[in-house]
Amino acid sequence: MRSTVTTGNSGLRLAATRGVRIEIDGINKVYGEGTGYAFEALRPTTVDIRPGEFVSVVGPSGCGKSTLMLIVAGLLRASQGTVLVDDKPLSGPLIDVGIAFQDHLLLDFRTAEDNVLLPAVIRRLPLAPIRERTRELFERLGLTKATNRYPHELSGGMRQRVSLARALVLQPSVLLMDEPFGALDALTRVQVRHDLEQLWMTEQPTVLFITHSVEEAVGLSDRVLVMAPSPGQVVEELRIDLPRPRPVALGEKPALAAYSKRIYDHFARLGVIRR
Ligand SMILES: Nc1ncnc2c1ncn2[C@@H]1O[C@H](COP(=O)(O)OP(=O)(O)O)[C@@H](O)[C@H]1O
Ligand SMILES: [Mg+2]
Repeated sequence: MRSTVTTGNSGLRLAATRGVRIEIDGINKVYGEGTGYAFEALRPTTVDIRPGEFVSVVGPSGCGKSTLMLIVAGLLRASQGTVLVDDKPLSGPLIDVGIAFQDHLLLDFRTAEDNVLLPAVIRRLPLAPIRERTRELFERLGLTKATNRYPHELSGGMRQRVSLARALVLQPSVLLMDEPFGALDALTRVQVRHDLEQLWMTEQPTVLFITHSVEEAVGLSDRVLVMAPSPGQVVEELRIDLPRPRPVALGEKPALAAYSKRIYDHFARLGVIRR
């Protein structure tokens, strides 16, 4: 279901946001198909993500996580299989989507606010309600002071939060994140994770979140997909059946620590971790 940003007498009103269903149906990816160097980066994968679900993918480098995300974004063609978004086959780039990568990819010559407005500028949307939405997001993300600053004037954590605001500014029904906090120090990372949790709880987009961090996946997700090393495939699915918001220090909740342990056990069994 699409969400809308409208202005009324009371200023900005946000329609209830609800993500879309994403059915990943038997997709795989063979790079270099038809050449002597064909290489299956992703084995046939099937995942049904319900509207508004938060799904994380954890796995070692090179197991095909980014490949999976690019296919879901409609930016890379699968070798086999289909992706259905609310029952419709995806045949080009997903439009109603926010994307965040490890690199914040902000433009250095635009202020934080102007970076966040960019998706609206590109789509020629009326900017007044989007400015209001940006103001609200900045307030929620502790970025108000950053509004008129340039990326090089901001800390790494702030830049990544601006990038998160840009991904969310048009209230997309899908949020795709590829190791978005990978470049942050541990404490900042925990804070931004908490910010993302808060935003997801109110806006409920469907999220596909790629991370190397087991704790991050457990802290944020409804479901965690565990991938095996190359050739990549999902070998385990864990439902994280715990209330939100979840504590910043996950160790406070034995149940969260128990989920993390189960995932580490899988990686030990797969030979990703030696102990
Ligand atoms: N365009 C490409 N051409 C050939 N091989 C690729 C290409 N992109 C990625 N790969 C290979 O596919 C595998 C999976 O890559 P990727 O999806 O980036 O993994 P991850 O994100 O889990 O680190 C890796 O072995 C990588 O080297
Ligand atoms: Mg990757």
